[in-house]
Amino acid sequence: MRLRVTCQEGFEDCCAREAGFLGGRAVDKGSGHVIVDGPFRLTYTLNRYGRTVERVMMELASAPLAEHGVMDSLISTCDLELLGPASGVTLDCDEFVKRIRPRWMTQLSTLLTRAFRTTSDVKTTDKRPEASLFLGVHGETASLYADTTGEPLNYREYRRYNHPSSIRPTLAASLVIMSDAKEGTLYDPFCGGGTILIEAALMSARRPTHTRRTYLYRNFLDFDPSEEERAVPPPNTLPKFNSFVGTDINSVHIRGCAKNVSAAGLSKVELRLEDCTRAVIQPRADAIVTNPPYGVRGSKANRMEELYQRFLANLPNLLKGGGRAVVVTSEGGSLKAMLARRKIVPTATAKTRHSHLWVEAVSFRLPPT
Ligand SMILES: C[S@@+](CC[C@H](N)C(=O)[O-])C[C@H]1O[C@@H](n2cnc3c(N)ncnc32)[C@H](O)[C@@H]1O
Repeated sequence: MRLRVTCQEGFEDCCAREAGFLGGRAVDKGSGHVIVDGPFRLTYTLNRYGRTVERVMMELASAPLAEHGVMDSLISTCDLELLGPASGVTLDCDEFVKRIRPRWMTQLSTLLTRAFRTTSDVKTTDKRPEASLFLGVHGETASLYADTTGEPLNYREYRRYNHPSSIRPTLAASLVIMSDAKEGTLYDPFCGGGTILIEAALMSARRPTHTRRTYLYRNFLDFDPSEEERAVPPPNTLPKFNSFVGTDINSVHIRGCAKNVSAAGLSKVELRLEDCTRAVIQPRADAIVTNPPYGVRGSKANRMEELYQRFLANLPNLLKGGGRAVVVTSEGGSLKAMLARRKIVPTATAKTRHSHLWVEAVSFRLPPT
């Protein structure tokens, strides 16, 4: 089974690693997505446990681009009945098709209208949701995928308190994976509403990402509820931190964070109203994953630079020697310059658009003590 898994653009490697933790094998990647091979039940595991994942699409058919009549070939080899009863079909495509081969979409929608009429004579019921198909190109191959997800997976049920600059949960989970840390204490010094801590704690507890939603794959002909129940992450692959600490300087955010932590059903998260540039974490954390405030320009940017300097100066009181850190900020350039002055070389970086801003995640290790 081949799946197209969409994720936060720029963080495809983190999504590929998570897909690996969940039993898949990433075979290719493109902007904002990863192509993953695995057994059919991986569709269940990625939808239910994938925290870096926004959508999972299942390949129905593929054809070489060089082939004459690629769209005819895709439709003739794909079994649309697998999608189960659907009242209609929506169709989308990737950038390559949009820009280079837009006429494929016209051809495909004509072919699909015909194909769906045939199957719908037998099975249409207006109460069923629509099926959703996607045409994508990888290298020399065009593939037709069916959405297995429905509403995107990025929404989180635990968000009772909406921090004004909360981070996207899929990005938060990507940063946890990017840290390359797997155990011990995870600390978020600028925790805000707690998204990073909560994602790390739920990932460590191998809990499903959602409890009150449905997935399009449940309409599929091959859907097997007992197989879905059994499709859990393999043991000992996901990061498994055993304690979580968060600090924030603002009491409203700390109270909001406590609400989110409790809505997520977590007990091992310690929250402190504290300035992280003066705090002492005892014992020091094994990993820091954080999203400090940003200043875009002018005097706010200068204040932020000063905050980052104080935070980095206090790092030895927060993080073990050799400990790993990931900081995501729109001030990636100045953060890297500050690290360079401390002779710290980033181990990885990744850029993405977040809330209308370009931000950069910088991963590094504190020198051993
Ligand atoms: C970008 S927000 C974090 C949002 C969080 N990742 C979330 O998803 O909700 C940055 C947070 O840093 C906090 N902060 C600013 N200066 C701080 C300091 N010196 N020590 C601790 N927290 C601080 C702010 O109050 C704010 O809540």
